[in-house]
Amino acid sequence: MTTTDTDLDALAGAMTVDEKASLTAGVSLWYLPPVERLGIPALKVSDGPSGVRGDSLIGRRSLSLPCGMTIGSTWNPALIGELGTILAAEAESKGVRVLLGPTVCIPRTPLAGRTFESFSEDPLLTARLAVAYVSGVQRHGVACCIKHFACNDQEHERMSISAEVDERTLREIHLPAFEAAVKEAGVWSVMTAYNKVNGTYCGEQPELIGTILRHEWGFDGLVMSDWFGTHSTAAAAAAGLDLEMPGPSAWFGPTLAAAVGSGEVSEAVLDDKVHHLLRLMGRVGLLESPAAGGQAEREDDDPGRRQVARRVVIEGTVLVHNDGLLPLEAAAIGSLAVIGPNAGVLEAGGGSSEVTPHVRRRLVDAVAERMPGTAVVHEVGCRIDRGLPTIDLGLLTPPSDRADTGFDLEYFDNGDLAGSPVATERAHLARLTWVGPPHPGLTSGRCSIRLKATFTPDVDGPWLVGLESAGRSVLRVDGQMVIDNSNPERGQGFYGAGSTLLEQARTLVAGQPYQLEVDLWPRAAASPVLGVRVAAERPRVADEFERAVAAAQHADVAVVVVGSNRGWESEGFDRPDLSLPGDQRRLVESVIAANPRTVVVVNAGSPVEMPWASTAGAVLVAWYPGEEGADALADLLVGLDEPSGRLPITFPSAMEDTPTFDYYPGHDGKVTYGEGVFVGYRHYVSAGVVPLFPFGHGLSYTSFDYGEPQIDQGSGRVVVSLELTNTGARRGSEVVQLYVRPHAPKVPRPDRELAAFTKVTLDAGQNTTISLALDDKAFAYWDVAGHLWAADPGTYELLIGASSQDIRATVEVTLP
Ligand code: BGC
Repeated sequence: MTTTDTDLDALAGAMTVDEKASLTAGVSLWYLPPVERLGIPALKVSDGPSGVRGDSLIGRRSLSLPCGMTIGSTWNPALIGELGTILAAEAESKGVRVLLGPTVCIPRTPLAGRTFESFSEDPLLTARLAVAYVSGVQRHGVACCIKHFACNDQEHERMSISAEVDERTLREIHLPAFEAAVKEAGVWSVMTAYNKVNGTYCGEQPELIGTILRHEWGFDGLVMSDWFGTHSTAAAAAAGLDLEMPGPSAWFGPTLAAAVGSGEVSEAVLDDKVHHLLRLMGRVGLLESPAAGGQAEREDDDPGRRQVARRVVIEGTVLVHNDGLLPLEAAAIGSLAVIGPNAGVLEAGGGSSEVTPHVRRRLVDAVAERMPGTAVVHEVGCRIDRGLPTIDLGLLTPPSDRADTGFDLEYFDNGDLAGSPVATERAHLARLTWVGPPHPGLTSGRCSIRLKATFTPDVDGPWLVGLESAGRSVLRVDGQMVIDNSNPERGQGFYGAGSTLLEQARTLVAGQPYQLEVDLWPRAAASPVLGVRVAAERPRVADEFERAVAAAQHADVAVVVVGSNRGWESEGFDRPDLSLPGDQRRLVESVIAANPRTVVVVNAGSPVEMPWASTAGAVLVAWYPGEEGADALADLLVGLDEPSGRLPITFPSAMEDTPTFDYYPGHDGKVTYGEGVFVGYRHYVSAGVVPLFPFGHGLSYTSFDYGEPQIDQGSGRVVVSLELTNTGARRGSEVVQLYVRPHAPKVPRPDRELAAFTKVTLDAGQNTTISLALDDKAFAYWDVAGHLWAADPGTYELLIGASSQDIRATVEVTLP
């Protein structure tokens, strides 16, 4: 059954003002309230976008997918459409109707904390992938909530900063992905950004929400706030915000009902919101039956979905440098040193996009498996933990299931852990948070939780064990109190409700099981948040660094895996600079000096400096690839497949070269978009600044020849075709990119702008004719005076190549 507008009218017409207003605010982190009288179930939303987490923050498992930069690097909308299909299946397994993603803001600076969530610095590439992602998810009846509308492209002062941006820059750079998602993919919901645009909060912007999104683009879906990003009742309601998240509400819900009652907000404004809410519920099938909500969450681990995830990593990993060392000839390599802080379990970025993976596969193991005749050694070299690391989950076994990893949780219906537990659950994280009642039937502030696990250290020596919590806590090892946090001092974690971290050294024996227990209880009866983080650092080995360098020296080949992690890259803060955290630069340089046959794998979510790049044997940018990353990268290293990613963002040589150097991070609560439309490669090509690696760059394990382009101009389109030949010895992929350069622009325009691209896979020696079609928009800029896209008559150069700076053929075209 589909829900028509007439059905929605009837449903809305049957609701009281209070019922209508109740739907405009969440009741908890991820749920809207039901309207039981009318059989409307509770709508459930979830992050996203690198998987679907579900409604808990205690580590219920789901498929951990590659980050946005990997998606951007694929340049393959068809594949991202398939990714959408598996995201929808993941959402279904968690009973989620709205996926909070994709993230499509354009990173202006590589330091932006959420760069890893974004697809690209280019609006066209971002738009093409966003349309594929959204269509892929929504065709299965799950909504996307595209975010963050608009200009949430830095985390510094993200809750308040005003993006001072001119109309042309907004239209040409920062809005196209949203526009395409609305007009082409018909996205069903949009999340407003935390920040202000030109002085007004995004959730209170009549211009952005009313004029552009609804009126110009014809958006008929739901507009929701970012979490705790609503700042008013009347202004936000009038501007067009439909839903305040999360709950309990501060500004909408009952407060909005009261504003309607007092006449401050008209009932027609409320009715509009209710229509948007009910339309969304209808689209995701929630109104089909009263039983449509409330399904239990499953932890599906599906091989078919894993296959798609692995393909995305294969196609989204970028080979930025290769002197011929890759692919490794496994049979000819007697010994291999796998080195680096990220050579174990590959890292991910932090914040709301995090999901708990099914498996934590180590890269070193995946590589060793593919090189059975090679002696593989593993050395950490240096560490990059920001503070005491969370305990390695792989060392914890829940007492009730020795085959699993994680904690057994016991819930008590009193604040003293008294009596028998009233419920139990498994946690697959060692940093756990509960907002509101931790378990159905319990009352916030009047319950307590015990965590239990068997901890088997993998190294002998003095471990540092740590505990921090929202609430009071103690940690026991083998029944003996090790950390007493029952009188916590206020710290910074857990949304500001957390304690400081307490730590204790403890000498432990490798292979010996220790019983770990943590008791957690509320600080005060009114606290809605409980949380705990169990930390543990392996003993420090004095010569860790030297051992790694020696291992590289004695091996035929070294693979060094450096990068970042959730402590350094996350929403909430930006990076201080382009460097790799810790001693990693020295580690890479020393390993390369010891053995030039070194492959560097960079496991980070945004551009980093690599002054050593040209001296390495090969450099792979692996981003944050999710849980299929280890196997995918191992396949790429030994040549079972080829990395066919191309950079969706420029890697600068130095911060001074970046387009926003003079403007970021802003001051006095404002950040000026002074670079205008010269974002990313638009700046580098126009100003003649040579980056470390340009936008669009990426090597293949084979080589391609570009033929002479032919132009076919007619029926309002320009079609460029050319022959592409795989001139190498193996099958491989090429991303053919077409950039437009106007000869005599009426307004300052970038030297070139991406206008079309296609990804082609050819066997050795094979050739094919590719075609790239350009409509008027491909030549256009935003004409501020006319308030429209203008493609001026005149001559344009079409630059066709393998990156923004590797142009293989040029042809001219004249627009009449
Ligand atoms: C993030 C959103 C996210 C939301 C819910 C916010 O902090 O900015 O992207 O969807 O939290 O977790």
